[in-house]
Amino acid sequence: MAMSVSALRETLRIAVLASGRGSNLQTLLDAQRDDACRFRTIGVFSDRAQALALERARIAGVPAIALNPADFATREVFDVALFDAIDAVRPDLVVCAGYLRVLTDAAVQRYAGRIINIHPSLLPLYPGLRTHTRVLADGASVHGASVHYLIPALDAGPVIAQVRVAVHADDTPASLAARVLEREHPLLLRCVEAIAAGRVVQDGSDVIVDSRRRSRPLLLGDDDQLHEPADT
Ligand code: GRF
Repeated sequence: MAMSVSALRETLRIAVLASGRGSNLQTLLDAQRDDACRFRTIGVFSDRAQALALERARIAGVPAIALNPADFATREVFDVALFDAIDAVRPDLVVCAGYLRVLTDAAVQRYAGRIINIHPSLLPLYPGLRTHTRVLADGASVHGASVHYLIPALDAGPVIAQVRVAVHADDTPASLAARVLEREHPLLLRCVEAIAAGRVVQDGSDVIVDSRRRSRPLLLGDDDQLHEPADT
């Protein structure tokens, strides 16, 4: 039986992993300024000391920690240290928001059912890097982003929700990335809110929404709310 990660506390404590700009993190930080918000970012963690995400955290008064992979002998040892630091802030949920290192299986398993990622494609299409470039090279007409639970396989865990973004004939990887990013922000926010409300949980390879096992991800609409996908 899947258990809601918010069952034990009123406010969902989240730790965010980010390697760079941190615009998705900023969306969460902005939302939690509202007293009614049911989640709190209680730590931001990075593999890059110069990541703008760390600065955004500090400005918001959130503890920010960077560990340098070069200081550790292996990926495994780095992830143990990183997740020991994450454990110390006692998060209910870990959010990977632009974290550019592939996590070790052990790290993912440590937070099984309590770790999500935002990925800039309509998974299972285009896992991995350079998604926007690959979408354009394929001549695809629709692109988007996905929020999914992590499992020990790259960009492969059960998808909670997606947002679709039209590809324009004159798009460049940069213009397409910018349009997708704009929609990533409400997508991630709605997913974290839904988890904080206890509406969304992972059960193995499935996502349960409002006590119902899902066969397809929810879709973010133009109204910035999550909806059932229309039958096709
Ligand atoms: C986003 O496109 C996210 O989907 C991907 O990396 C980018 C991070 O952007 N994983 P930001 O650091 O949140 O601005």
